[in-house]
Amino acid sequence: MRSITYLLAFLLPTFVLCSSWNYTYPKSWPVKYHTLTSQRLNLSMAYMDIQPSSPTTSTVVLLHGKNFCGATWEDTARRLLAHNYRVVIPDQIGFCKSSKPSAYQFSLQQLASNTRSLLQALEIPQAKILGHSMGGMLATRFALMYPNITSHLILTNPIGLEDWKALGVPWRAIDLSYADELKMNYTTVRKYQQATYYVNTWKSEYDVWVNMLVSLYRSGDEGLAFAYNMALTTDAVLTQPVVDEFALVKAKTLLLIGTKDNTAIGKAWSPPEVQAKLGNYSILGKETASKIPGSELVEFEDLGHAPQIQDSERYHAALFEWLDRMG
Ligand SMILES: *[C@@H]1O[C@H](CO)[C@@H](O)[C@H](O)[C@H]1NC(C)=O
Ligand SMILES: *[C@@H]1O[C@H](CO)[C@@H](O)[C@H](O)[C@H]1NC(C)=O
Ligand SMILES: *[C@@H]1O[C@H](CO)[C@@H](O)[C@H](O)[C@H]1NC(C)=O
Ligand SMILES: *[C@@H]1O[C@H](CO)[C@@H](O)[C@H](O)[C@H]1NC(C)=O
Ligand SMILES: *[C@@H]1O[C@H](CO)[C@@H](O)[C@H](O)[C@H]1NC(C)=O
Repeated sequence: MRSITYLLAFLLPTFVLCSSWNYTYPKSWPVKYHTLTSQRLNLSMAYMDIQPSSPTTSTVVLLHGKNFCGATWEDTARRLLAHNYRVVIPDQIGFCKSSKPSAYQFSLQQLASNTRSLLQALEIPQAKILGHSMGGMLATRFALMYPNITSHLILTNPIGLEDWKALGVPWRAIDLSYADELKMNYTTVRKYQQATYYVNTWKSEYDVWVNMLVSLYRSGDEGLAFAYNMALTTDAVLTQPVVDEFALVKAKTLLLIGTKDNTAIGKAWSPPEVQAKLGNYSILGKETASKIPGSELVEFEDLGHAPQIQDSERYHAALFEWLDRMG
């Protein structure tokens, strides 16, 4: 009996850590695991922590979006390293190489707290927080909760710039969202990304991010857990707005917005008259910039939801112009 207990104790953490998902992260940057206890679970949060060639105290934390992973930041991370920043890239709990609990009370606050726990473990007292899409909504929540940690906030086509439910998006039962998630395949994911991220254009280099996501959904039991975690996350972002708190952000803030973006959580299951009101980023970027004290806005009028992918050169030129000026 005792030996079985030892055996289980030995095996269980392995189940948490081992991923059947086969996507390969950048080879030269080892994926590490931060363990944390949260909601009665022992969880493991995957991250990359990459140091530039000369020592620095300036760190940028890159927060991925809901359809992305830490690995999606490779291009941005390489450029930040070349500019002598330390770069920390977590996979949030529920996502990619991190634990995918069978049940978890997802909230932006919980994910922000998990991210802070990682920074504490890495002894990083202060950082520049850059988030894309859901990662931007999370970065905003992080900046609100931890103003002393967040020296700079950079939001790239964040979601949460409007309160979808207040605009008429019906609540969707988690079970229905889960059923939606289970239907994801190359065709559906590409169709969505083409229309939302890339202004109805497609290049073969975008396929890697579609395939990364689809292979996650397809990775057996882990894929089912991921799909369920995605449904729980949808509920969290729909029910927990940040839009009313932008005036409280203390960090120096930059908004990088592709104005052809039309992302809105719940648009797919909303009536047409509600759909028509949602996700107009040519309005939302300006509105948000006017709410965040002292913020700056850079708009890309021909780009969609993922400007850092769609026009990497232009996006990063704007990013470094601001970072260099802000110090
Ligand atoms: C979590 O890990 C700690 C320390 O190893 C252990 O004492 C505890 O029982 C674990 N909890 C769960 C829920 O597995
Ligand atoms: C945050 O920083 C301010 C100013 O340095 C300080 O007064 C405050 O106590 C700090 N708060 C926390 C929670 O560390
Ligand atoms: C992908 O999913 C859609 C919607 O569920 C379905 O109509 C389509 O046949 C699927 N395509 C493939 C290649 O499985
Ligand atoms: C990863 O898994 C997907 C889906 O199961 C498969 O199509 C792909 O070939 C696999 N890739 C590798 C490198 O094994
Ligand atoms: C977004 O709002 C602008 C300004 O009101 C308007 O000109 C444009 O047509 C809207 N875009 C969409 C897609 O509704």
